[in-house]
Amino acid sequence: MMAEEIDRLLYSPKPGDLHFTYKGVLYPTVLCCPETFQKLEGFEAREDDVVMVAYPKCGMNWLTFILNEIVFLSAKKPQSPDIPVIEFGTPEKLERINKQPSPRVLTTHLHHDNIPSSFFKNKVKKLVLFRNPKDAAVSYFHFHNNNPKLPSFSSWDEFFQQFISGKVFYGCYFKYMLAWNNYVDDDDVLIVTYEDMKKNLVAGVKQIAEFFGLPLTQEQIQEIADKSTFQNMKANYQETHGQFGQFLFRKGDVGDWKNHFSPAQSREIDAKFKECLGGTNLEAKLKY
Ligand code: A3P
Repeated sequence: MMAEEIDRLLYSPKPGDLHFTYKGVLYPTVLCCPETFQKLEGFEAREDDVVMVAYPKCGMNWLTFILNEIVFLSAKKPQSPDIPVIEFGTPEKLERINKQPSPRVLTTHLHHDNIPSSFFKNKVKKLVLFRNPKDAAVSYFHFHNNNPKLPSFSSWDEFFQQFISGKVFYGCYFKYMLAWNNYVDDDDVLIVTYEDMKKNLVAGVKQIAEFFGLPLTQEQIQEIADKSTFQNMKANYQETHGQFGQFLFRKGDVGDWKNHFSPAQSREIDAKFKECLGGTNLEAKLKY
């Protein structure tokens, strides 16, 4: 079960630093290791892989659940016991992923430019998930402070400064978003937002299944939407994500940032968003 692998990865003690840097980006030692990153460079993606890309805390676990359900109902392939995040875990895990039958559900938090080149060369379809940076920041802050395996921050204000200056795991979210701007209209890219999924889960599941060419009946779409509500996923976290699940399903709301941001911090994020994405296709699509 995937939950068992998550527990093994996170709860086996690792000595040394809490983070390491690879190609200028900070990563958590508890989840990633440089050897896997090196091995990833030669990773062979397949044309029928079902891939999702998302910055941390944008709802990746939610959408991964949905992708696994789509693949199960449409292609009759049960979920793999391996964590689908390609950069998590050991090089041996990557070896196992190499041997998985198709269609594989693969996900990554990596910046566009650090994703293995075969994901682009081989015309693999990629779902790219975004979330309002204010809500992503709040979620990231709580994730750090609730999870004893990650470094904690003494205050929201301290985390905010780190976030806006990109000194967090996986780097600057604004640069991360901008890197996708040239690809938003590509046939092999589907941009989806956390907010749209919250607004209409049924429509979101349908759109995603169609994008990947994995047909579902209306009943199957409804079944997946019912199973993947926040309440249902939170209720089942022990089974799906082990102990780690307690940190993954926190509030599941749009707009929790209003309970954390000062007016000045809100203006600062708006200005940063404009500075990085102002006038781009992606800005028009996201409307944050
Ligand atoms: P909050 O901390 O704002 O509650 P990730 O999976 O990328 O780490 O993202 C975690 C965020 O997605 C958390 O946000 C979590 O609650 C939210 N989330 C997880 N499952 C969800 C669901 N089924 N519906 C809505 N939000 C969900």
